[in-house]
Order: sequence, then C-alpha cells, then structure tokens
Amino acid sequence: SNGQSLAGKKVVVTAGGTREPLDPVRYLTNHSSGKMGFAVAEAAKNAGAEVTLIAANPLKTIPTDLHVIQVETASELLKTVKEQFRDADILVMAAAVADYRPATVADKKIKKTADNETMTLKLVRNPDILKEVSSIKKPGQFVTGFAAETNDLIANAEKKIKSKKLDLIVANDVSQAGIGFNADNNQVTFLFADGRKVKTPIESKQKIATKLISIISNEFQE
Ligand code: C5P
Repeated sequence: SNGQSLAGKKVVVTAGGTREPLDPVRYLTNHSSGKMGFAVAEAAKNAGAEVTLIAANPLKTIPTDLHVIQVETASELLKTVKEQFRDADILVMAAAVADYRPATVADKKIKKTADNETMTLKLVRNPDILKEVSSIKKPGQFVTGFAAETNDLIANAEKKIKSKKLDLIVANDVSQAGIGFNADNNQVTFLFADGRKVKTPIESKQKIATKLISIISNEFQE
C-alpha cells in the first residue's frame, strides 16, 4: 500500500489502561503501557490519516504530534469513544479497559481499622465499549479490537470478533515473557471477520502497527 493510503480518513485509536478510583487516593488498574496504541496512532498518521488518540493513563509519554484526548476511567473512555466514533472511518481499540470498577467511590480516604484484618471490595461490571460501538456502527466504518489472552488464544479471539461484531481482531499471547504488556516487542495473529488468520513473527510494536494499518487500509478501501 502507498504511503498516504489513509489520506483524509479519521482514525480513532485508544491506548493505555483505565483507572477505576476507590477513594481520592487509590485506584484499580492494569499494566498497559500504551506503547502498542501509540505505535498504531503514529502508523495511521504516517499513512496520512487524521488521528485522534484517546489516552487512558499510559505509563509511556504521550506523543505530542497527535491530537490527544486524555481520559481516566472506563466510563470516560466510553463517552469519549462514542463522541469521536460518530464521524470516524476507523476505530482501533488498543486500550486495556477494566472489566469491573469499585461499586462506590469513597469521598474520603478509606481508613484501616484496628479490628479489620480483611476488607472486601465490591465491584460492578463496566460497560463493554466495543459492544456499545457495534450498536452505533454505520456501514463503511471499520472497527478493530485487541485480544490479550493467556490461553486458547485463537478460540477466544474468534469468540470476541463475533460477540463484539468486529471487522478485525489483533490477538496476542500475554503469557509469553518479553512480548505483550509493557514490552517493546509483540507477536500477534490478525483475525478477520471472514475467518482469515495472519500470524506475525516476534517484532517491534512499530512494525506490527505498520502491518495493522496496512491491513486496515486494504480492507477499508474494498
Ligand atoms: O473482552 P476483552 O477485554 O478481552 O476484549 C478486548 C478488547 O475489547 C480490546 O479491544 C478492548 O479495548 C475492548 N474492551 C472494551 N470494553 C471493555 C473491555 C474491553 O471495548 N469493557
């Protein structure tokens, strides 16, 4: 594909991991660095797209050459994705979204007490952003999800591509050391809605992002 294959297209990329507050000083989160999402956003920009990067608490410094919207929680991410998706051509959901959040957020710091050796946290389910996006998706809009799995990688990714009504899913095995979360390298399988599969070697997240953007621009222009 040529260097400007996404010229004039609006691409929305989410990156990082959501933070779900417990009280004013504590939160639940995950190990997402944001590196994979940043690499996808840069690759889309290099392909000529107008990119909006929605960044949720990445560990890595946010690129300054992109239009960035920062969010914290899954609920904020949902609201922002819905707003940005409306006039977007392509969405890539690389963010690690917390499946659950604390049922209540204390307005003061939660204290330990002398007689409480254990504490139980009640969590409630967060919305599934990709499922909500699938219900507002218009013909021609292209949606890509990620699937990080420790077991049954392909079977689980195949289930997700159907349940979230995706055009493409990027599946990666996060049980292997040196790839995936926080690493500079990754190894993924691209799974298409029609069942095609393409597995990459272990390579940099930049290389994988470039391949992903080239696959998306080929599929998108059909
Ligand atoms: O179901 P699972 O979290 O493994 O699916 C991963 C994909 O779904 C990722 O693309 C992630 O960004 C997205 N996701 C979402 N809303 C959630 C959880 C995950 O859109 N609540």
